[in-house]
Amino acid sequence: MTDVFRETLGNLLKARFPLLCVESFEEHRVLAEIAAVATDPVRVRTSRNLVTWSLTEGLVRPDGTRLEESNRPEHALRQALHTEEATVFVFRDLHPFLGDGQRPGDPAVVRLLRDVCAAFKSGPVARSLVLVSPTLQLPVELEKDVAVVDFPLPRVGEIRALLDDMIRSNIGSGRLTVTLDDAGRDRLATTARGLTLQEAENAFARAMVTGVTLSEADVDAVLEEKRRAVRTAGLLECVRVDIGLDDVGGLENLKQWLVKRQDSWLAEAARYGLPNPRGILITGVPGCGKSLTAKATSAAWGLPLLQLEMGRVFAGLVGSSEQNMRRALRTAEAVAPCVLWLDEVEKGFSGAGPGSGDSGTASRVFGSFLTWMQEKDVPVFVIATANDIERLPAEFLRKGRFDEVFYVDLPTAAERGQIWSVHLDRRLRNAPAAGGLVVDDAVTRRLVEASEGYSGAEIEHAVIAGLFEAYAERRPLTVEDMLLALAATVPLSVTQAEQVERIRTWANLRAVAATAAYDRFA
Ligand SMILES: Nc1ncnc2c1ncn2[C@@H]1O[C@H](COP(=O)(O)OP(=O)(O)OP(=O)(O)O)[C@@H](O)[C@H]1O
Ligand SMILES: [Mg+2]
Repeated sequence: MTDVFRETLGNLLKARFPLLCVESFEEHRVLAEIAAVATDPVRVRTSRNLVTWSLTEGLVRPDGTRLEESNRPEHALRQALHTEEATVFVFRDLHPFLGDGQRPGDPAVVRLLRDVCAAFKSGPVARSLVLVSPTLQLPVELEKDVAVVDFPLPRVGEIRALLDDMIRSNIGSGRLTVTLDDAGRDRLATTARGLTLQEAENAFARAMVTGVTLSEADVDAVLEEKRRAVRTAGLLECVRVDIGLDDVGGLENLKQWLVKRQDSWLAEAARYGLPNPRGILITGVPGCGKSLTAKATSAAWGLPLLQLEMGRVFAGLVGSSEQNMRRALRTAEAVAPCVLWLDEVEKGFSGAGPGSGDSGTASRVFGSFLTWMQEKDVPVFVIATANDIERLPAEFLRKGRFDEVFYVDLPTAAERGQIWSVHLDRRLRNAPAAGGLVVDDAVTRRLVEASEGYSGAEIEHAVIAGLFEAYAERRPLTVEDMLLALAATVPLSVTQAEQVERIRTWANLRAVAATAAYDRFA
């Protein structure tokens, strides 16, 4: 992947692009890569000097000498402006002077940067200025002049090399025993995929200091570090899942579809000529297992589940919406194979209706997401869930975007039976005091009949409410407890009958039923 970076950067430098921008937290890795490209005559035709700038050190030449009076950005930019040698300037701390959505930039710095652009574009010697910054927010004046270069997260190979280095130096000092074989090291490195090199180093270092041996058990520690790192990036959450497809009652059609696509990212599947599945959209009645299925899929497939918070993508707290989306997708790609879960995707469109003024951004962001989905060749399986499909733009549902659009309806009788048994089993398994209830056919029939029109979430709720009744009197749970709990709640299908009906009519025409036919007509 860094090869792509080198090639792109090389081409841009060769084409004399005056202003480039690399968005990354990994300053050191970026600098090393830029240095490798700028001084490589094969890539850039004529080798360039590499001069770096930071607020603390000012301009620094390749031999380490500092240029006088160059700490202030205006001074540094003026010196750059008057350079007569072929040079690549790498500016590391300039972004605070360029402003962001909230604050305006420093007008003098912005002006100088524009002057630099103009001078570098037309001058006889090859000069370029590269901005390296963790956030990419450019003043409008500069937007047209800058070329943005994607800097990928490290590949497994690079992470593995880091791990081997660290092991070597720690074993050398006699502080560490390693029980990991080659495959184990690979697994550890693969687990760290999606982290920056710095984060991976922290994770490995932590694993090495918490025990004197580095073993298979440390994979978990690294996974934990990854959850933390992905979370601090602010957009993706690595969700821990402890349920499987067996915990989803009914929805056999959907579950079968998923089971068939398990392991589809393995090389074996490619030998069958199979493409990576792109993803599915699950819509339907609230509380009927959309989010549950997303979670269960990741567990069933043994892949990490990354949840993308649509609200945060658009919140504008960290960077622009487009930038947020791009960053999230890049992280997901680096973590692949994984399941990327966009829960309640229609929320991204709140306020994006006609006349709200924000529809442009939302459409752009989703447009780029859909393009990514269609073109991606990495095994990131997308599961999007949505209640209010009417708020989704039409292109979201067009054939060929998602592999399938599934519709989750209120559970049928057969499905309710399974949902009751899932929840009773789960609750009673570890509850000796509440036990004793034998869930035979007669009991199931009563529960199933009484819960017609109730969602899975409402059934689960009735089990819990019944348990509270039993607990209040310190006695075992009875069927009546749950029947009473049901009777005491009015299901959503009644309180919001119209909306539920609307969702059903819509979906029946456009989506595939998640419920198997034999369950529907049972
Ligand atoms: N088919 C089901 N089998 C077992 N449990 C279910 C099922 N459907 C719902 N539940 C229970 O209800 C809870 C809520 O369901 P879930 O979050 O999947 O609903 P949802 O369809 O995503 O609803 P919403 O549209 O409100 O987000 C689940 O955690 C689960 O305990
Ligand atoms: Mg949900």
